[in-house]
Amino acid sequence: MDEYESAAEEPAVPIIRQPTRSLSDENIHLSSATETLKLTDFDVRGTLGTGTFGKVLLVRLRTSSEEEETSKYFALKVLRKDAIVRLRQVEHVNAERYILTRVRHPFIVDLYATFQDNLNVYMLLSYVPGGELFTHLRRARRFTPDVTRFYLATIILALKYLHSFNIIYRDLKPENLLLDSRGYLRLTDFGFAKIVEDRTWTLCGTPEYLAPEIIQSDGHGKAADWWACGILCYEMLVGYPPFFDESPYGIYEKILKGKIYWPREMDPLSRELIRAFLHPDRTKRLGNMIGGPQDVLDHPWFRGVDWDSVERKEIRAPIIPHVLSPDDTRHFSQLPMPSTHDIPGLIPGAEPPLRPLQRFEHISYTFEFPSYTPAIPV
Ligand SMILES: Nc1ncnc2c1ncn2[C@@H]1O[C@H](COP(=O)(O)OP(=O)(O)O)[C@@H](O)[C@H]1O
Ligand SMILES: [Mg+2]
Repeated sequence: MDEYESAAEEPAVPIIRQPTRSLSDENIHLSSATETLKLTDFDVRGTLGTGTFGKVLLVRLRTSSEEEETSKYFALKVLRKDAIVRLRQVEHVNAERYILTRVRHPFIVDLYATFQDNLNVYMLLSYVPGGELFTHLRRARRFTPDVTRFYLATIILALKYLHSFNIIYRDLKPENLLLDSRGYLRLTDFGFAKIVEDRTWTLCGTPEYLAPEIIQSDGHGKAADWWACGILCYEMLVGYPPFFDESPYGIYEKILKGKIYWPREMDPLSRELIRAFLHPDRTKRLGNMIGGPQDVLDHPWFRGVDWDSVERKEIRAPIIPHVLSPDDTRHFSQLPMPSTHDIPGLIPGAEPPLRPLQRFEHISYTFEFPSYTPAIPV
């Protein structure tokens, strides 16, 4: 018989831990070479993805030397300023930029430069050619525990790193995890990432991955990322998330009820790990207890994992994406090219060149819209 389990309802009291590192002390990782770059140095080669606020384009740096073939290609995330303002995402976009310019980790996408024009803000990222984990998971239907363990291990190391700066990620899901050319994951999309000492209250994320405390507007912190880890682990092993419904409201109801369907073939240790991540009480949730992320690394489900080798990328990845050339986009859906009207800064002569200050000063992007009022709280 398939099994159901009901999660106990217990009051959630978060643990307040002191920050171990301050992100403001970190170097800004925009290389000095990028200071001479202009948006018009890039050719647009295709569209890799679309989102609520804009798109992600594949671009080629025209001025780079011939021998650096692979380093010519980048992903350029283009976000519409008017949409950002309308949807009250100004603080989120500025946080995305602030955080990505300072973090550096093998499993997190690299940001090289940022630009803006009157219409858009632009983030120049490394092009991660293997496509979304989402695509590979749907193709495979589900992953074996060993494959799941490999991907989850990389995500856990990325979260451990981010949490050490008190950065919560808040948008863990297979669409935001990209496979690099060696098959290792890169966390992308820091649109909801935030530096939080304790708790924050904004409802954001993706319904299936939201922790109960987010739905209940109870204030959430790092524990919400560990919850999402449990959802991701289940989705990789089973092929679909543990709580799903046609409407977000239906999903929220199921999350709060905490009833999990366990397929017969799922082994007891995997269930135990997922249950530990999906504990409704944050003080008892794996990753958020007194031992912090070390408890996750020490969990028996990860027995045998050499965490240092994973971080040094010494282990052969389970899926090595087939990529023929550095501009191969076969792992992304074939989307239409953007209209030149939508990306004025990329079109030579379409707009006066931006002053260097606007391009590279480590200040916030500027949004000059009369309707703008800061979103509170963020
Ligand atoms: N660095 C990158 N390399 C390749 N594709 C990317 C990159 N960044 C984003 N994408 C693609 O674009 C999609 C949308 O980007 P994302 O940053 O997640 O924006 P959104 O906030 O709209 O979800 C991703 O799901 C992915 O398919
Ligand atoms: Mg995304």
